[in-house]
Amino acid sequence: MTDAMPASRPRVHREVVSYVRRSARMRPNQRRAWDRHHEDFVIEVPQRETSTSIDASARLDLPEAFGRVAPLVVEIGPGAGESLVPMARARPDVDVLAFEVYQPAVAQLVSALARAAVPNVRIVAANAVEGLQHLVPPAGLDELWTFFPDPWPKVRHHKRRLVDAEVAALVASRLRPGGRWRLATDWEDYAQQMRTVLDAEPSLVSDHPGGQAPRWAARPVTRFERRGLDAGRRVHDLSYVRPGPSDHG
Ligand SMILES: C[S@@+](CC[C@H](N)C(=O)[O-])C[C@H]1O[C@@H](n2cnc3c(N)ncnc32)[C@H](O)[C@@H]1O
Repeated sequence: MTDAMPASRPRVHREVVSYVRRSARMRPNQRRAWDRHHEDFVIEVPQRETSTSIDASARLDLPEAFGRVAPLVVEIGPGAGESLVPMARARPDVDVLAFEVYQPAVAQLVSALARAAVPNVRIVAANAVEGLQHLVPPAGLDELWTFFPDPWPKVRHHKRRLVDAEVAALVASRLRPGGRWRLATDWEDYAQQMRTVLDAEPSLVSDHPGGQAPRWAARPVTRFERRGLDAGRRVHDLSYVRPGPSDHG
């Protein structure tokens, strides 16, 4: 420690996370959208030391947050909502809880939700893994969407990939029997890693042989998918179910 550093500054434990810790600084139009609309869509939760963390004491009253009781869909990492906004709009019967750590993207997302008058989305601007742990009750989730998660292509970064055995077990515990996890990636080896991890999770089964689902027609092509296709990569859709009776068809 140098003399220039404040002696009392608390030491922040930085665990391995699936995202880059980027500046939360917003452009003026993003700041305006945030100021105008965040109260309609963004749910504040207690944090630990970092702004993307969620304190273990945090709880979420879903009926209060959405103003009704409806099947729950969670999206991890919607970015600016290029697929989330049309998909939530097309499914007015479900509530969509989105976890996104990058605040400028959240500002764009709230702006798009307000423009499209989509009432069934709420956002927590924090780490989805902690959100699933603390805010989503066991067997409370009808569907989870994870589309084009950060690929972390370098081998030394693979430990940062979101989909690993621990997260798979957490997701399985949050899905209700009959609930489904839909994923997509344009990175061949990440798709393989997803299949290996999800096939090994005893509470999840693929509803397609070999874990490769057909492209989900409801999922719009985003710039992340387009970028992969333009680079000649193949897009993999995966769909895994927690076995059990389904009450929503
Ligand atoms: C490559 S982008 C994909 C965006 C969007 N799903 C799409 O297909 O257009 C991945 C997004 O996930 C977010 N993200 C990564 N890890 C996350 C986590 N643990 N919790 C919440 N958001 C996360 C990133 O900030 C980024 O916006």
